[in-house]
Amino acid sequence: MTQDTALLPKSLVAGDEPVPARKVFVKTYGCQMNVYDSDRMSDALSRDGYVATDVVEDADFVLLNTCHIREKAAEKVYSELGRLRELKKAKASEGREMVIGVAGCVAQAEGNEILRRAPAVDLVIGPQTYHRLPEALKRARSGERVVETDYAIEDKFEHLPAPDKVKTRARGVTAFLTVQEGCDKFCAFCVVPYTRGAEVSRPVAQIVAEAEKLVDGGVREITLLGQNVNAWHGTGPDGGDWGLGDLLRRLGEIDGLARLRYTTSHPRDMDESLIEAHRSMTKLMPYLHLPIQSGSDRILKAMNRRHTAAEYLALVERIRRAQPDLALSGDFIVGFPGETEADFEDTMRLVEAVGYAQAFSFKYSSRPGTPGADLKDQVPEDVKAKRLERLQFLLINQQRDFAASCVGREIDLLLEKPGRMPGQLVGRSPWLQPVNVDAKRSQIGDIIRVRITRAGPNSLFAEVIE
Ligand code: 5AD
Ligand code: SF4
Repeated sequence: MTQDTALLPKSLVAGDEPVPARKVFVKTYGCQMNVYDSDRMSDALSRDGYVATDVVEDADFVLLNTCHIREKAAEKVYSELGRLRELKKAKASEGREMVIGVAGCVAQAEGNEILRRAPAVDLVIGPQTYHRLPEALKRARSGERVVETDYAIEDKFEHLPAPDKVKTRARGVTAFLTVQEGCDKFCAFCVVPYTRGAEVSRPVAQIVAEAEKLVDGGVREITLLGQNVNAWHGTGPDGGDWGLGDLLRRLGEIDGLARLRYTTSHPRDMDESLIEAHRSMTKLMPYLHLPIQSGSDRILKAMNRRHTAAEYLALVERIRRAQPDLALSGDFIVGFPGETEADFEDTMRLVEAVGYAQAFSFKYSSRPGTPGADLKDQVPEDVKAKRLERLQFLLINQQRDFAASCVGREIDLLLEKPGRMPGQLVGRSPWLQPVNVDAKRSQIGDIIRVRITRAGPNSLFAEVIE
C-alpha cells in the first residue's frame, strides 16, 4: 500500500525519504459493539500514523478485540494467540517488530492472566480504556508489558475520535453507533455486567453529533448499539428526561438519514414511548431483537430475568399491535442449570407462540464469576446438545417460513455493496435479510423499490420495480 507522506506525522518522515507507515491488523470477535470499538481504535491509531492491513504477516501491531460471552469464544482467542506467537518469532528472526495486543471482554475479564498464559502478548486493554490505546502501544513498543484494565473515570467516548468522513465513506452506507454500554441487569449466566461494567448512557448531543457526521460521510442507515440499548436514558435539549424512543425521534430528524435500527433490547425496558416510535416512525425499521432466553418461568426466575413468559408474550402482542409488520428476533439458552425436559418444552412452546423471523440459540456455558457458575444441577453436555438441536430445527423452520412469506412483497431496499454475482448488488430488507438484485455499482447508497421473487436459504432475491 502506498501512503502520501503528507498524511503521515512528522516523526514518520525522515529527510525526504518517505518511511513506510506502520501497519495494524485488527481481528474482531463477538458482538457488533466490538465491531464499533475496533473501528474507533483503528481511527485512534491512524492519528499516530498507523494504516490498517488485512494481511496479518505485514502487521507491526496485531490487535485481537475479543469476546468472553461463552467459553468457546474465549478459548478461540488463546488458540489465535498461539499461532501469533509463532509468527512473532518468525518476524523477530528477520529483525521485524510485531506487537501483540488483546482488547475487549477477555482482556477485561482476565487481565494479567493473559500475560501469564500467552507470553507473546505485549498489551492488554479493556473496553473502558480504549482512548488510552495509542499511549499504551508506545509503552509496549518500548518493551513494557502493559495491562490497562482499570475502569476510567473519564468518558472514553469523549477522547476517542468520532468517525471521520473519509473513513466512513470507505466503510459503507450502514454504520453502528454505540449509545449505551454496560449492564445493570445481572442475568445469572452473563459476564457482561463484569466485563463492560455498569450501565452508562452517552449524552444526546454527543450521539446526535456523531450521527450527523456519519450521515455527512454517506451513511444512510444507523444501528444504535448497547448491551441494553433500550435502557438508554438522557436529558433532552428541553431539559426533559429522554428514553430511547425520544432519541430515535430526534435522530429521525436528520436529513439524509433514511433508516434507524437498535439492538439489543431487554423486555423490561420496552416502554410505551419506544413502542410508539415503532408505530409512528417510518424511518425506524420494523425489526426488533428482543431476547427472552427461556420460555420457562422457573428458569427465567433462576436466570434473574425478572419477567415471566406470559409478560413477554403480552409485550410482543402490544408491540405487534403498534407495528403489525414487525419481525422479531431473539436469543435462547438451553441447559441453564436446573433446566428439566418440561422447562425446555416451555421454551419450544413459547417459540411456537411467538414465531421468530430470526433467532440465535446457544448451549449454556458456565462463566467463572457469574452466579450461574455456582449453581448445582448443571445439565450434561449431551442433553444440552440434543435440546439445542431440536430448538434450532424449529427456529430455522420459522426463519424459512418468514422468508417464504416475503416472496411477492414490494419493499424499499437500501443498496449496500456488490453482491456475489457480477452485475448484482446486495442490500437489506426492512427485516434485516440480505436481498440480491441486479443493479449498477453507482447505485450503492440508493434506496430502490423492488419485488421479492425468491427466498434462498440465507438471502432473498428481488427484481427492480420500474
Ligand atoms: N452461555 C450461553 N449463552 C450465553 N449468552 C450470554 N451468556 C451466555 C452463557 N453464559 C447468550 C445470551 C445472550 C447472547 C448475547 O449470548 O442468549 O442474549
Ligand atoms: Fe447480560 Fe442480561 Fe445484561 Fe443482557 S441483560 S447483557 S444477558 S446481564
